[in-house]
Amino acid sequence: MAWDLVVVANRLPVDRVQLPDGTAGWRRSPGGLVSAIEPVMRAHDGCWVGWPGGTDQDLEPFEDDGMTLVPMTMTRDDIEGHYEGFSNGTLWPLYHDLVAKPEFHREWWDSYTQVNQRFAEKAAELAEENATVWIHDYQLQLVPRMLRELRPDLRIGFYLHIPFPPAELFQQLPWRRQLLEGLLGADLVGFQLPGAAQNFIRLVRQRVGHKTHRDLVYLPDGRTVRAAAFPISIDAAGFEALATSPAVAERAQEIRDALGSPRKVFLGIDRLDYTKGIYARLRAFSELIKDGHLDVEDAVFVQIAVPSREQVEQYRILRDEIDRLVGRINGDLGRIGRPAISYLHSSYPREEMAALYRMADIMVVTPYRDGMNLVAKEYVACRFEDDGALVLSEFAGAADELRQAWLVNPYDINGMKAALLEAYQAEDKELTRRMKAMRKTIKQHDVVAWAQGFMSELSDVRNPHSKPVRPARRS
Ligand code: F6P
Repeated sequence: MAWDLVVVANRLPVDRVQLPDGTAGWRRSPGGLVSAIEPVMRAHDGCWVGWPGGTDQDLEPFEDDGMTLVPMTMTRDDIEGHYEGFSNGTLWPLYHDLVAKPEFHREWWDSYTQVNQRFAEKAAELAEENATVWIHDYQLQLVPRMLRELRPDLRIGFYLHIPFPPAELFQQLPWRRQLLEGLLGADLVGFQLPGAAQNFIRLVRQRVGHKTHRDLVYLPDGRTVRAAAFPISIDAAGFEALATSPAVAERAQEIRDALGSPRKVFLGIDRLDYTKGIYARLRAFSELIKDGHLDVEDAVFVQIAVPSREQVEQYRILRDEIDRLVGRINGDLGRIGRPAISYLHSSYPREEMAALYRMADIMVVTPYRDGMNLVAKEYVACRFEDDGALVLSEFAGAADELRQAWLVNPYDINGMKAALLEAYQAEDKELTRRMKAMRKTIKQHDVVAWAQGFMSELSDVRNPHSKPVRPARRS
């Protein structure tokens, strides 16, 4: 069967896992990418190509929750070289401002190239004539060019969900030119922020030598590629509806009671990733208790760390560090039945997330660098009573839109302490003023607007072979 829209992402929205009874089952994949593309898929009649987790699993295409999913097989070598290696050991730290040291290995690059080629071949096989293919994220930056070589008739969009670094960092990559040329296979290259699109255009001019003007790149074959910002968002109405449901209200109350009904609850929800600044934020909170500004009878910090990339060494080290820190803080500062930090290493369904957002007074999102951070937006969407405080890193893409948050520099522990305390002590009137403004922004720029914006720009690209793209339906 051939499709009018093919979405290509490293991951499928569900992950193949072994259930406690030993049988195989499916679990929702972690991360913002999945939450953003899911509503797009529901609005279009397309298919989604991606990795179902695990290794060496040959699975047939299947339907899940109204979506057609096409699983790609990955071998143990693919995972080591393409996923854990080049994607998450080289590109991830490099694109996040060198928060960790990237490693450059030629065999990782070879594996990345091979896996990208397989994804391109699969997309070429599934797309009907003149179809639209939307490729996602840093794991697949070579696919646009590979796919164009196989299928010049296609309209190809690419969206990068993470930051795109300045030239000074990007040019460390031995394969910088190939990656830029890979992306130039697309008609439209989308980024989270305008600065990232400008970084890309500048690099294309300097490193590949193509002519550029503003957001356009002119290729020698006559094609034009556009690079622009499309800040990603969430299903704001969906989250609000969940948060207002009686079941979620009841669960929120249950969680608060289980925490011992403290006066205020701080909340952090992140993939357990070194870019997220979890360690620094927990230290800042614990120092506020040590200094006597907060008391464990009044305040508790709930930190949810969603397991992620557990085979990658830097992630294992981080997990140990956080485990030790939480143990030390609770040992030093907690009382019987009153830990300073309630720490959970687990992932949760949307309903539980909505209950957590609903019960938390202060949401703390402090990454050192983040493409967008959808958790910050989800919290705002769930605060239907215009209350609650958001403490947000200046280095998260979301800070460009959520200006009324308490903005912090996560490298500045004293600055974070001051912001946490201010948010804790803020008057209701102040909270409402800030939250109202942020909610307005989130409602206007939801994920459907994001997808429509990208798709309509993509359909405007002048390409004699392609027919127009149908706009997404609002569900
Ligand atoms: O949003 C960035 C991203 O890396 C996505 O591409 C990815 O699906 C998500 O985070 C979770 O990471 P992973 O797929 O490595 O578990």
